[in-house]
Amino acid sequence: MRAAVYEGPRTVTVKDVPDARIEHPTDILVKITSTNICGSDLHMYEGRTSFETGRTLGHENLGQVVEVGKAVGKVKVGDWVVLPFNIACGFCKQCEQGLTSYCLTMQPDPGKAGAAYGFAEMGPYQGGQAELLRVPYGDFNALRLGEDAAERQLDYVMLADIFPTGYHATEMAGVKPGDQTLVYGAGPVGLMAAYSALLKGAGRVWVADHQPDRLRLAEEIGAIPVNTAEEDPAEVVKEATLGLGADNGCECVGYQAHDPQGREDGTLTMNGLIDAVRFTGGLGVVGVFLPEDPGAADTQGKAEAQGKMPIDFGMLWFKGLKVGTGQAPVKRYNRALRDLIAGGKAEPGFLVSHELDLDEAPSAYEHFDNRDDGWTKVVLHPQAGNGNGARAHTRKDSRKDSRHSAGPASHRTVEQLRHEAAKAGIEGRSHMNRQQLEQALDR
Ligand SMILES: NC(=O)c1ccc[n+]([C@@H]2O[C@H](COP(=O)([O-])OP(=O)(O)OC[C@H]3O[C@@H](n4cnc5c(N)ncnc54)[C@H](O)[C@@H]3O)[C@@H](O)[C@H]2O)c1
Ligand SMILES: [Zn+2]
Ligand SMILES: [Zn+2]
Repeated sequence: MRAAVYEGPRTVTVKDVPDARIEHPTDILVKITSTNICGSDLHMYEGRTSFETGRTLGHENLGQVVEVGKAVGKVKVGDWVVLPFNIACGFCKQCEQGLTSYCLTMQPDPGKAGAAYGFAEMGPYQGGQAELLRVPYGDFNALRLGEDAAERQLDYVMLADIFPTGYHATEMAGVKPGDQTLVYGAGPVGLMAAYSALLKGAGRVWVADHQPDRLRLAEEIGAIPVNTAEEDPAEVVKEATLGLGADNGCECVGYQAHDPQGREDGTLTMNGLIDAVRFTGGLGVVGVFLPEDPGAADTQGKAEAQGKMPIDFGMLWFKGLKVGTGQAPVKRYNRALRDLIAGGKAEPGFLVSHELDLDEAPSAYEHFDNRDDGWTKVVLHPQAGNGNGARAHTRKDSRKDSRHSAGPASHRTVEQLRHEAAKAGIEGRSHMNRQQLEQALDR
């Protein structure tokens, strides 16, 4: 089968590898039709992890079941499924508590916890940027999808990681209706955190980044963009909240945080949030931080290469901030978020900029890694070349015409709807109520 294989820093090739197959009676085998490139892949792509050369990447996977092991009871051949990036057993001490991102039995190293497809330090499993994927404990790990799965892959594939991960950031931060929330990072994860906060009814959500194309998407879903090349997010937030600060904050950047000029400093986002969030507020940190990053020795310093970051712990303690960290337990949220998508209440596929053939993975990695303008999220279709899956095309242009891209209208404030109405040149908008504005924008 064809697969996107890591060959060393900034080198991915697509080549033939041995077919994935059923290895245990509880496995299922999935023909992958959509598989995303993630910001987490970029840490590996850049050689900033221990990821082994020769391994297949890809942990955000969706497809159709083509074979099931003898002990599989629920999942059937032909089912459309989306796979949480975490691989979990369902019966260990962690899984029993819903902490599937720290499963003890799928991680072979007793000093560690948690497993994932095609991921550094998360077990030996191959990734799904390939034609086929072996899924251990298929009954537990696969989330089955409804009849609209094939047509709405761009929305449902986000359930493998970034939608639940963004949602998890807001859960750890404690986002509630009416809250004012600051998100660092307008990458796919930050956008999903902002989207989740808005779905939960947050009053105001700021998204900080220095990439204008990503900030535009944040604005489209109803968040307030903060360009860090021009403004300090903590100052913006404090000014807007009578000096109190945001109720909570989400870190969606990770240890390779950098200034707008590209100089790495892993403390920028944490210290920004400690400054910006009010006394006793909450922080949800889903951006990846690692105990070992040999690559940091050159870019950030020796201490940072061991994951030691000089964050403002004194101020964090003084403010009584609560902090949640770590890999997201996707299974805790994916079923409910699937039903929001199925019910038309969430369309996380709005951030997809490119749908490409698997064979185009090498250049897709290069563009996404450069954060080239307009490359917000890449979905690869391994079956496209076989005439057996979605055809590859970019979504960038069609997105502009799609009113879906702005997210569900009901999750935007009247102020935001009026702002959109102004952009669309709708007359009489200042006297319209929510319903009238929604109708006018619908036309
Ligand atoms: N915890 C989990 O379960 C989980 C799951 C998925 C991804 N992640 C991690 O989340 C992070 C984000 O993922 P992504 O796919 O959005 O990655 P990405 O690299 O596409 O996006 C990161 C964004 O952060 C911005 N950025 C960099 N430095 C910044 C700074 N100082 N201030 C503000 N913005 C800054 C970049 O411009 C970029 O737009 C990564 O570390 C990824 O590994 C964690
Ligand atoms: Zn991911
Ligand atoms: Zn387990």
